[in-house]
Amino acid sequence: MNPFNGRVAVITGGAGGIGFGMAEAFAARGAKIALADLDEPGMAARAETLRGRGVEVLCVRTDVTDRKSVDALADAVWSRFGAAHLVCNNAGIAIAGPLLQMTPDDWRLTMDIDFWGVVHGTYAFVPRMIEQKQGGHLLNTASMAGLVGMSWLGTYCAAKFAVVGFTESLRRELEPHGIGVSVLCPMIVATDITANSLRMRGQEVPKSETPAQPPSAAMKGGVIAVEDVTKRVVAAIENKDFYILTHPEQREFLRRRAARLEEACP
Ligand SMILES: NC(=O)c1ccc[n+]([C@@H]2O[C@H](COP(=O)([O-])OP(=O)(O)OC[C@H]3O[C@@H](n4cnc5c(N)ncnc54)[C@H](O)[C@@H]3O)[C@@H](O)[C@H]2O)c1
Repeated sequence: MNPFNGRVAVITGGAGGIGFGMAEAFAARGAKIALADLDEPGMAARAETLRGRGVEVLCVRTDVTDRKSVDALADAVWSRFGAAHLVCNNAGIAIAGPLLQMTPDDWRLTMDIDFWGVVHGTYAFVPRMIEQKQGGHLLNTASMAGLVGMSWLGTYCAAKFAVVGFTESLRRELEPHGIGVSVLCPMIVATDITANSLRMRGQEVPKSETPAQPPSAAMKGGVIAVEDVTKRVVAAIENKDFYILTHPEQREFLRRRAARLEEACP
């Protein structure tokens, strides 16, 4: 079965960046789209772009940190489209800085959005997807920071490692229900995540910093375009691949981590 044509895709963090890139890629393959984000004007503008291409789009202001808000999103999706098939828990922020300088608020915000947002999306959608018996696919956005610990990205790494662990477990449990599961683990992608994350914390965006800056120089690797990520995402959903990696540089970092673990075995 074509995983996109005539299917309903829900994307949190869909007002821009990787989320909107996924919306465009799924819509181009015939999917109906539900965008969910805190950024209402951003979502409305993006929805108009899609509607101009003849795509059916629903926008729902959603705060992924709030389970009730994500449940209301699911209600809105079922009431508009009668189903959901492709759910992308993608909303996220990145707070960079030395771990010992991270405040309890930094920790809470990161975990609330990057980890609990994924959990809320899963609990709001997956039981209904199982019940509707039409298969489908769940994609949780983690990061390379969810596979390898990095200095200056400690809170982000903790949240994204949690997303990877949660999603690895979920994959095993959803297999019997015919629901595919993937975890997206990119390195640096050209989006406005740094500026958006500063704004989210009520901080000024430094003028010297271009909005497309990566979360931190701590993550060493090339910067790729959103379209490069979405090509990988589409292929992974078609092939039912679990890990979605995006940069060739990842191989060496992952190999070294695996070697360190292997060496530690008694
Ligand atoms: N850009 C990168 O280099 C990179 C690398 C690895 C992983 N990621 C992950 O990709 C995902 C998308 O990030 P992006 O780079 O496209 O950034 P982005 O800032 O362009 O998109 C994130 C979106 O999430 C939304 N959002 C934030 N908090 C929210 C909340 N509480 N409820 C609903 N929506 C909320 C924002 O408004 C924004 O539209 C994130 O999970 C991020 O951690 C990004």
